[in-house]
Amino acid sequence: MAVVAASAIAAAGWAYLREGDWAKGLVAAYGVPNPVPPSSEAVERGRATFRDRCVVCHGARGRGDGPGGATLDPKPADLVLHVPQHTDGELHYMISVGFPESAMPAWRSVLSEQDRWELVHYLRVLASGNP
Ligand code: HEC
Repeated sequence: MAVVAASAIAAAGWAYLREGDWAKGLVAAYGVPNPVPPSSEAVERGRATFRDRCVVCHGARGRGDGPGGATLDPKPADLVLHVPQHTDGELHYMISVGFPESAMPAWRSVLSEQDRWELVHYLRVLASGNP
């Protein structure tokens, strides 16, 4: 039930995106709670997804220094600095739809809803210095 409600709110955010307004979608996503209960299993699955998909640009410790990001402008975000500045809903939104005018991909059609929320759990652990 919580998953359905959160998806409905997230869908509201994506409606803005179709109109080309990324920032309004981010605002809509602000209060969306992570519907996946925190657990070490969820963190481990998030960690595996991060290794497969994100380390290439963001680096193993999330500092934005992966080999694939070296020539990008803007450079991949330092997640240790940026993750604490965002709510779970905002992180899930940025992972899902990408970051405008940058190489940050939209993962919505690649990773499942569950995968993306597990990534959010892992990003909290990563940002606390435990990659
Ligand atoms: C092709 C390189 C690339 C890959 C792969 C990539 N990212 Fe990014 N990511 C970026 C770039 C570049 C930015 C910076 C956008 C900016 O600051 O303008 C970014 C920004 C972000 C942000 C926003 C941080 C903030 O607050 O500004 C998050 C969160 C994020 N990435 C998470 C991820 C996750 C999770 C994955 C794996 C599923 C991933 N990224 C894969 C390049 C990448």
